Amino acid sequence: MADTPNITDPDQDPNANAGPQKGFLARHAMLERSPTLLFIFSLLVVTIGGVVEIAPLFYLENTIEEVDGMRPYSPLELAGRDVYIREGCYVCHSQMIRPMRDEVERYGHYSLAAESMYDHPHQWGSKRTGPDLARVGGRYSDAWHVDHLNDPQSVVPESIMPQYAFLGRTPIEGEHVEALLRTHRMVGVPYTDEMIENAVLDFRAQGDPDSDWDGLVERYPGAVVSNFDGQPQLTEMDAMIAYLQMLGTLVDFSTFTPDASR
Ligand code: HEC
Repeated sequence: MADTPNITDPDQDPNANAGPQKGFLARHAMLERSPTLLFIFSLLVVTIGGVVEIAPLFYLENTIEEVDGMRPYSPLELAGRDVYIREGCYVCHSQMIRPMRDEVERYGHYSLAAESMYDHPHQWGSKRTGPDLARVGGRYSDAWHVDHLNDPQSVVPESIMPQYAFLGRTPIEGEHVEALLRTHRMVGVPYTDEMIENAVLDFRAQGDPDSDWDGLVERYPGAVVSNFDGQPQLTEMDAMIAYLQMLGTLVDFSTFTPDASR
């Protein structure tokens, strides 16, 4: 019976505070009984917590590890990305491989923060009805993508992905592409004046292997030049496939080593 509190001794009585209060607890009761005071003091506590968490971020140059190979999207890729967003592909597809074994074995190296650094807005997505697309670039041929976008069930019979054949019937001129690059520059993507001046030329060159695309590849290393949809004129299908074929291919993971010093 030694552990039973002695309720005649106020120091051991668990209900001792229920009566007239004293000291710290009495003052706390004042807070709890006045909504205004409680609000002011809660705000104070939350503010201190917020400052402690947020203020250090202002003193860091960069919270994203720098990685070789990342470059802004080429004009055609960027236009394809716009079509991707417009069509809501992100509703069914994520673009973020988590650093867990099952994901890495299925999709490849886990996604790095740097790989989304030129994405405004990012396309991480929140739901996977279809597979993650962060590293789909180069996995299939252009012709496979054309067949798949035209009629997904023709290549994956059990697929529930909708058909996007109209992309191949919608010409894309690129008249807005210069403004598109400028807009992305305004939000921090380092497009140079040269890139912006050549935006329309580069846009057309990437979809036509017979054009003069040396400048394009110099400005956007690793850009894939191809007649993506196999038709003579540029269509939204070309832009979409240029974007898909670039995804996840910019960083060379055979030489990449995470920087442990950060
Ligand atoms: C209703 C959900 C849904 C939407 C919307 C959707 N997809 Fe899919 N997607 C799927 C499913 C399910 C699969 C897996 C079966 C298949 O390959 O068709 C898939 C597969 C894919 C694949 C092959 C991925 C791989 O690794 O095999 C690509 C590429 C793709 N989708 C691109 C797109 C693009 C681009 C869009 C937007 C134009 C889009 N999807 C919209 C559901 C969707």
